[in-house]
Amino acid sequence: MHIRKALYSLLRQGAAVHLPRIITKPARSVCENLGLFDQRQYKLGLTNIRPSDIFLASYPKSGNTWLRFIIANILSKGGEVSFRNIDEYVPTPEFVSRDLNLLDDPRIIKSHWPYFDLFPRFIYIVRDPRDVVVSYYHYCVKHKWFEGTISEFAQKTHGYGDWGEHVRAALNETQRRPEEILFLKYEDMLANSGGGIAAIGRFLGLRLSDETIAEINYVTSFHELQKNEQRHGGHLCEDDYGFFRSGKVGQWTSQLTPATVEYVNNKYVDLMRILEYVS
Ligand code: A3P
Repeated sequence: MHIRKALYSLLRQGAAVHLPRIITKPARSVCENLGLFDQRQYKLGLTNIRPSDIFLASYPKSGNTWLRFIIANILSKGGEVSFRNIDEYVPTPEFVSRDLNLLDDPRIIKSHWPYFDLFPRFIYIVRDPRDVVVSYYHYCVKHKWFEGTISEFAQKTHGYGDWGEHVRAALNETQRRPEEILFLKYEDMLANSGGGIAAIGRFLGLRLSDETIAEINYVTSFHELQKNEQRHGGHLCEDDYGFFRSGKVGQWTSQLTPATVEYVNNKYVDLMRILEYVS
């Protein structure tokens, strides 16, 4: 019985590690039905998930890159972090070519996929959905991924799914196992970034000195990250500037029409109340 179990576990591991590279999509589906492969892990861009892995998760445009720079600066211990080397500290598996299996524990992995039950521990950052619409809209228009008005954009569901489903799933998971998740709000980070950095350090098992927190707070402030991007180049490639666009709370008040605000408020009213974005 034990041998059968061990063989099955070996097969599962082998499948998880090797199948994505060598077999095609239909074969992956068959293997998934047999319980030998999890498509979600494939989407995450990982061949395996280790019990020590820590994920940095969020819906897009919620402040993920800010936290990524904070964590990378904690890990770099004074070495300069930029878009050119940030993947060495907090990789986005879908976009890196190197083998993440070679990284030491604990790996800290950025992801927008809401597969929270797969994440052993994770940090989640949420942002007011009205500001997410504004930020995401400008980002997609800038890269020519969307043509149309911001009101049209607000009514579409984008690559990583619906904001409400994403955030609801993260909240549920946080209630289920609070000690394994650090749930942060973008707005709280802006109000007290030093406190946020200290909380992130504690979550990673590190006690950061006041001096270190102040230094990291400075180099990851919005204006310093803007300058960093000018010096080293941007997110998608060296010439892709403007990722650090505005970095403010409440842009929706001037950029969304009243009808779009009402649309978003109605759609997410329960969650926005829980998160105190509306009363
Ligand atoms: P804006 O487009 O509103 O400026 P993500 O990394 O999840 O895609 O989020 C991007 C948003 O976070 C952008 O919002 C970006 O400017 C903002 N951001 C990044 N670093 C920040 C910082 N240090 N302070 C405040 N906002 C920051």
